[in-house]
Amino acid sequence: MRILVTGAGGYIGTVLVPKLLAEGHTVTGLDLFYYGADRLPPATGLYRIMGDIRDEGRVADLLRDGRFDAVVHLAAISNDPSSELDPDLTRSVNLVASRHLMEASHAHGVGRFLFASSASVYGIKDTPNVTEEHSLDPITLYARYKAECEGILNGLVDESFCGVSVRSATVCGLSPRLRLDLTINILTHFALTRGAIRVFGGDQMRPNIHVEDIADFYVHALSLDADVVRGRAFNISRENSSVMGLAEMVRAEIGPDVKIGIVETDDHRSYSLSADLARRELGFSPRRELQYACTQLRDAYATGRVPDPESDVYRNVELMKTRPFGPVEWTEL
Ligand SMILES: NC(=O)c1ccc[n+]([C@@H]2O[C@H](COP(=O)([O-])OP(=O)(O)OC[C@H]3O[C@@H](n4cnc5c(N)ncnc54)[C@H](O)[C@@H]3O)[C@@H](O)[C@H]2O)c1
Repeated sequence: MRILVTGAGGYIGTVLVPKLLAEGHTVTGLDLFYYGADRLPPATGLYRIMGDIRDEGRVADLLRDGRFDAVVHLAAISNDPSSELDPDLTRSVNLVASRHLMEASHAHGVGRFLFASSASVYGIKDTPNVTEEHSLDPITLYARYKAECEGILNGLVDESFCGVSVRSATVCGLSPRLRLDLTINILTHFALTRGAIRVFGGDQMRPNIHVEDIADFYVHALSLDADVVRGRAFNISRENSSVMGLAEMVRAEIGPDVKIGIVETDDHRSYSLSADLARRELGFSPRRELQYACTQLRDAYATGRVPDPESDVYRNVELMKTRPFGPVEWTEL
């Protein structure tokens, strides 16, 4: 397939693109490369475009003449705190540009559109194991636009345009473009660099998945029969654990001397996700245990693969406070 991946230079994109190339697909990676273009090195079958998905004319030109069989739309302001930083910016990327990308893809003959949604669309639910049947009650701006985009995508779906929403759990593990602002990665970072983890509360349940597994799901979803996935959303998660359970997992991997301190909190929001639908109907089961993320990070820190682990480049909101988000000159790298 000829696949356009937006956000190809991001945490998930830099793991996904090599997998797509290994499957024999031709990939065009469109990204601002806000976190660095060197994280997605040149490769056979890969075309890298530094560009902004908000540049509607360029995006429409890129999609013209049926150039792509599929689009994987990852580009976004990609967590709650960075989305709150500048609501207008967030709206322009996560809603307006995403809607345009969906409409242009539909208009220009893209057959499959995979949208990186998030488990956060459900909001906080008491129900254990929230399924795709549960209502969407997003609380944050980030989650609200994810939910709105799912609706826009579903509105475009027809016989020839197969839109699918991927409601991912929080991701963890090593990537060429590493993020250290995600739960398990944060806990592991503190265990490695401070020998101590602070847990706020601890009983709250959270779903997580390894970055290799979420990338595997995108690859898998491109291969499935359109009739099976058209217009549907799938929860993708390895397992639910309490935040304290995750801290103890990190300690078990990093070393018994790691101290776990509990900090009182009013925030007891807790949720857990059921990923049974994808398992049952799509035959997809994540293969990596969450511990693997900790051992990967430990080895990467030890071998100098994370040269400056305190750098803002690993923490989206911190970098966005210091460096403007675009504009960039549309350039084929
Ligand atoms: N990482 C997670 O835990 C997680 C969980 C659920 C959903 N998601 C979703 O998956 C997608 C990818 O997440 P990630 O962790 O790889 O995030 P990331 O921040 O590492 O990557 C996002 C990429 O999009 C690019 N980008 C942002 N705005 C752009 C624009 N206007 N034009 C072109 N490129 C732009 C950035 O440069 C970056 O490379 C996002 O949509 C995110 O919301 C991530």
